[in-house]
Amino acid sequence: MKSLRYINKYFLKYKWRFLLGILFTVISNYFGVQMPAYFSASINQFQYQINNPTSENVLWLALELGGIYMGLSLLKGFFLFLMRQTIIVMSRYIEFDLKKEIYDQYQALDQRFYKQNATGDLMNRISEDVGLVRMYAGPGMMYTINLVVSFMLIVGKMISISPSLTLYVLLPLPIMSILIYKVSSTMNRMSLEVQKEQSFLSTLAQESFAGIRIIKAYQRENEITQKVSASAERYKKQSMRLVLVNAFFSPTIIFLIGLSSMIAIYYGGLLTFEKKMKVGDIVAFIMYITNLTWPFASLGWISSIIQRAAASQQRINEFLTRKPDIQDISTQPCPLEKGISFQNVSFQYPNSNQPVLEQISFTVRNGETLAIIGATGSGKSTICSLISRHFDVNEGQITIANQSLQSYSLENYRHQLAVVPQDVFLFSDTIENNLKFGSEQTDITTEELREVCLQAHVLHNIEEFQEGFQTILGERGVNLSGGQKQRLSIARALLRKPKLLVLDDCLSAVDTETEEIILNELQKGAAARTTIIVSHRISSIRNATQIIVLDKGKIVESGSHDELLTQKGSYFELYQFQLEQEKDAQTKKED
Ligand SMILES: Nc1ncnc2c1ncn2[C@@H]1O[C@H](COP(=O)(O)OP(=O)(O)OP(=O)(O)O)[C@@H](O)[C@H]1O
Ligand SMILES: [Mg+2]
Repeated sequence: MKSLRYINKYFLKYKWRFLLGILFTVISNYFGVQMPAYFSASINQFQYQINNPTSENVLWLALELGGIYMGLSLLKGFFLFLMRQTIIVMSRYIEFDLKKEIYDQYQALDQRFYKQNATGDLMNRISEDVGLVRMYAGPGMMYTINLVVSFMLIVGKMISISPSLTLYVLLPLPIMSILIYKVSSTMNRMSLEVQKEQSFLSTLAQESFAGIRIIKAYQRENEITQKVSASAERYKKQSMRLVLVNAFFSPTIIFLIGLSSMIAIYYGGLLTFEKKMKVGDIVAFIMYITNLTWPFASLGWISSIIQRAAASQQRINEFLTRKPDIQDISTQPCPLEKGISFQNVSFQYPNSNQPVLEQISFTVRNGETLAIIGATGSGKSTICSLISRHFDVNEGQITIANQSLQSYSLENYRHQLAVVPQDVFLFSDTIENNLKFGSEQTDITTEELREVCLQAHVLHNIEEFQEGFQTILGERGVNLSGGQKQRLSIARALLRKPKLLVLDDCLSAVDTETEEIILNELQKGAAARTTIIVSHRISSIRNATQIIVLDKGKIVESGSHDELLTQKGSYFELYQFQLEQEKDAQTKKED
């Protein structure tokens, strides 16, 4: 239950609404309790009229009594409405706040977190789990308050009529409480299993939608479907068991209520014969017992809601209390125009025990281009991740103007940085919005958009679309080719006017001619920024100021293109190899 304390701050935030809700509950119950008392008084009055017929008009009396009874029930209903309007509305506010808090936390957390947690799980915590917590903050709270208030008022009234009869009719209540508790803890255990399976199922479904192309390409539809159906089957079975236990609930309670009513009639009857009570009082007692039924019946439901909400809040807290690995504590602006340096940087991913980078050192000054080349898995993208500060280095340091990267404001630093990642991501939105996504400038003109697209050599593609820049991409729109996507994300980065531009193998899907055009275009603006370019192809990087050759996380060679060729090392070999390939391709074309 401790975990639920977390949302007390929200109860405090909405305390007036909450207190008003409690007040309305009391008022509504007050009128509710008057109703049986009034009913009983009417019966006693009628009985008196039957035994002592007078000239008074019974019809008028009936109308008067009926009118008052209706008035009371209207008042009770009105305050019941207000009670829901305050407490349930409060719970919706809390739900909104909590979702926002979790979402903000999701945005603050870094890559390591996203590697460790499946998307389905993240989604579940923000929808399912928050939903359950809301059930506690809203209906759960409301019914608890209602139970306490109605129990006190009703039992008070019953005692005022007959303390001994009250004692007898309340006897079945403890049995009911024990039963409810037993059943609800069983239900609780079962619903935890249901929640777990649901989380698993939604992760599975989500992944199968995201990977539908690969599933179809490998003809794995049947296997995935079987996996999903197996999980859905387990989910169904567990839910059915839950429903079964749940179904025992109401009959048991109704049986116990019936028992209480029987006691009321039998023992109340005896008391009436002894003239210690009136017939109307027995009727009032039966009505009170019925009125106590549903608050009590909700007890099991409440306890199960509270327990489920506690489990959910615990899962939520796991995320909320987690501190991002990368802290943005400094406010010092970063002079990125001074270039960037790696000094003996070593790095190992948090979830592995193999160093990925060892003793990496280089310096790139403003206006220069550093190129990184190396076999797959040699650590090129890892260097880019370190530059973006998705991770912090383990050893050595990254410096800007002789000061460690960590000593600058992360926000200010990232503001001046543009990274084109290896795996391009575009949103299901218009081309224009995708381009503008990275830029904080609000008054971007079409001219500027055209300019960056021209530089990234993608303008002619965009113009071929009927809707031009308004073309919608992604799931419900146009699918771009791999190369078009890459060029569009280069344009997006350029629009940001970065001081440091990092291109992680983002020309891999374009042919060498297009590559040439783009590199030439990029060269034009290169003097005003620092550029780091990662590639497999020598053609992409031959003009770089400095090239480093990476092998298994270590720098094995470095220098300019010409220097590296004279060294006749692995770079030279790669150059020869790629030259041969190009020649082959050329002759094939000519044939
Ligand atoms: N998040 C991660 N957690 C653990 N290991 C990782 C992670 N990301 C990458 N690695 C490992 O680090 C090594 C270097 O990966 P990296 O992506 O930097 O290579 P790369 O040079 O960019 O390769 P490619 O040319 O194929 O893009 C690989 O062995 C990879 O398995
Ligand atoms: Mg890579």
